[in-house]
Amino acid sequence: MVEQVEVSIRASSIEYAIRDVVVPAIELEKQGHDIIRLNIGDPLAYDGLPTPIHMIDEYKNALDRQNNGYGPSYGLDELRKAISLSECSKGWDCNSDNVYVTHGVTEALQVIFAAFLQENDTVLAPGPHYPPYMAYPQMYGAKTVEYRLKSSDNWGIDLEDIRRKMNDSVKLLVLINPNNPTGNIATRFEIEQLIEIAEEWPKCTIIADEIYDGLDFSNSFISVASVSEKVPVITLNGVSKVYFAPGWRIGYMAWHDPENRLSLVRDGVERILRSRLCASTPAQYGYLAGLESSHDWLSSHRALTEKRMNYCLKRINEIDGISCESPQGAFYLFVRLTKPEHFKDDKKWVLDLLHQEHVLVVHGSGFSPEFGAGHFRMVCLPQISVLEEAFIRIERFLSS
Ligand SMILES: Cc1ncc(COP(=O)(O)O)c(C=O)c1O
Repeated sequence: MVEQVEVSIRASSIEYAIRDVVVPAIELEKQGHDIIRLNIGDPLAYDGLPTPIHMIDEYKNALDRQNNGYGPSYGLDELRKAISLSECSKGWDCNSDNVYVTHGVTEALQVIFAAFLQENDTVLAPGPHYPPYMAYPQMYGAKTVEYRLKSSDNWGIDLEDIRRKMNDSVKLLVLINPNNPTGNIATRFEIEQLIEIAEEWPKCTIIADEIYDGLDFSNSFISVASVSEKVPVITLNGVSKVYFAPGWRIGYMAWHDPENRLSLVRDGVERILRSRLCASTPAQYGYLAGLESSHDWLSSHRALTEKRMNYCLKRINEIDGISCESPQGAFYLFVRLTKPEHFKDDKKWVLDLLHQEHVLVVHGSGFSPEFGAGHFRMVCLPQISVLEEAFIRIERFLSS
């Protein structure tokens, strides 16, 4: 018997529910079953929501020009400039030196956590949330504590819960806006209150993950940095969702630090960025084209997403055993399992649905054991005909 090399506790405790559920789905596909995948927030996996062609052309032109070398560690100058102008248009004074281009928002998170967090520090993140906010901080000896989003109030922020959970160990207070998985968009009042709470804790920085900002059906999105006068805010965004190119792996962080509290940690971030070389050079040119040219194309992508979202909501309301708040943005539905026997074990429900009806969704407890349990997340991105079939199967499963 060969002796197994030990895995670190850091690595073995990582979970990413959205992709973890794919493992049994692949097994079923190998057996010849046709699975309807509603698990992953990737518009490119479905029809009708392509990456804009002018962005693809610029990516290709960069390849043809041999822009295939390493780029600057903080991003191409012209891209940093375009990002800063885009952030300025959201109402705050963003200079291109405040922008760092990364290998997606996911890399930005890793860099931020590595630079900010020490043993026993806390990240206070919404529950439910995008899983890396829970998975990564523990790698640095820190922990994530969740503040409650109110399921009974369209997943609005429980500000009292934040007040209760704030203390000196909270280095990062996270707002995901629009939220994944709930689709809720924070109101101005909620943002102002969140900033007011953070103001009482001088070691606290706000992380504003705004990667779905252009997918706002209610026209109510407000950038957190545009509201904060003192508290540092790091805005995260990128090409993945609103520019429909998640496979390019380009994102950014934009630092708003009105009182210059973050110069030490920023030096740490820059050191990490230099040590990991750079983000993909040709993909940055593709993103640049997206930022600099007209965004008219986005309204048809958004309208199609909203149409599919509304269809899903209509069907969910017709089916006994599930219900859902109306999302204001992004492309997810966070669906409540209303029958107590389903509510208590959402992962089992999801796996049973997969095995019995070959529809793949993600268990809500994968987004928050405390505040997401008893739900499942699905994307509304497929064509209506695929969604129709998915809901026929879900309805049959619930009545079986
Ligand atoms: C809230 C949120 N932030 C970040 C990401 C990932 O961003 P990126 O593709 O830029 O790494 C996702 C992906 O689903 C997300 O939902």
